Amino acid sequence: MIVLGVESSCDDLSMAVLKEGQVLSNVTASQVADHQPFGGVVPEIASRRHLEALEATLDGALERAGLRLQDIQGIGATFAPGLVGSLLVGLQFAKGLAFSLEIPFRGIHHIEAHLFSAFLEHPLVFPFLGLIVSGGHSHLFWVEGIGRYEILGHTVDDAAGEAFDKVAKMMGLPYPGGPAIDRLSEQGDAGAFSFALPRVKSGAMHTSFSGMKTAAVEYWERSDPSRQADLAASFQHGVVRALTHMVERGWESKGKAPLVVAGGVACNRALRRAFQAQTEKKGVPLLIPSPKYCTDNGAMIAWLAWQYLRRGDTSALSLNAQARLPIGGGVSRIS
Ligand code: KG4
Ligand code: ZN
Repeated sequence: MIVLGVESSCDDLSMAVLKEGQVLSNVTASQVADHQPFGGVVPEIASRRHLEALEATLDGALERAGLRLQDIQGIGATFAPGLVGSLLVGLQFAKGLAFSLEIPFRGIHHIEAHLFSAFLEHPLVFPFLGLIVSGGHSHLFWVEGIGRYEILGHTVDDAAGEAFDKVAKMMGLPYPGGPAIDRLSEQGDAGAFSFALPRVKSGAMHTSFSGMKTAAVEYWERSDPSRQADLAASFQHGVVRALTHMVERGWESKGKAPLVVAGGVACNRALRRAFQAQTEKKGVPLLIPSPKYCTDNGAMIAWLAWQYLRRGDTSALSLNAQARLPIGGGVSRIS
């Protein structure tokens, strides 16, 4: 089955064509330059740019796949969660295409797609422990199958990516902050400033980043600007330690299982090294996508849509965009 995936939940419009789950093309229209002057994503600009980029992105995805529009047999698009204006642009476009081509359509939950993005490059395995670390989410899942998830833990305040972005902004680093901290940290000493491991009363598998963010602000105000790289590296180390701790608690609760890590923050080099070491020590496989499939991409949307569509699990064309929706809400089942 040849499936087109459309992702437009935030500031990237991305479309991909997959054949039986294999990526034929994945084309992304990035808006980093448009939002950089504002130090963050401006929702009105994001949806407008998506609208302008729709046609060229589709043409690019088809051309790179060496296919025509008529070859597409199914379409998936992100319908939640995200910026509602941005979601609507991709979702309405995808539904319109499905209607005119008379092919099945499936609405896709953005976080659910991240959860399976490692399987664009690895054979599918169940069960696994899945950690999603993105700009809006830091969630630990136990996954037994497609649509069969248990949420083990999550951040009780900021998401990991959000914390990276806010600390970077505070230190005067360019948007997006995560990659800027990652780059700067390579020249810094991760042990220079101490960041306590968050302790969350509501659950051992939950985490929190607001304390670390506040500590970073205080250190920055009190220390010399020449220590920027040391502070970046120490903060990054603190975030990574909180996440590896969360995963360790997950294995304690569920037993040894492969670890899947995805979402934009999974691009972080220190995080990738830490999970590599942790899984080697544990003796379990680490499944982590290439950086291009960690950040938002159309391929992960098409892959999950293919999984649902091949089972005949489609969405109605009346499906609406939703800014907030827990994984499993709307169209997917929770075990
Ligand atoms: O998954 P994603 O592309 O979009 C959302 O669904 O949110 O994640 C974006 C987040 C941003 O907060 C960005 O700063 C962070 O991922 N990020 C990183 C790195 N690359 C992207 N954070 C730390 N290190 C990186 N190398
Ligand atoms: Zn994302």
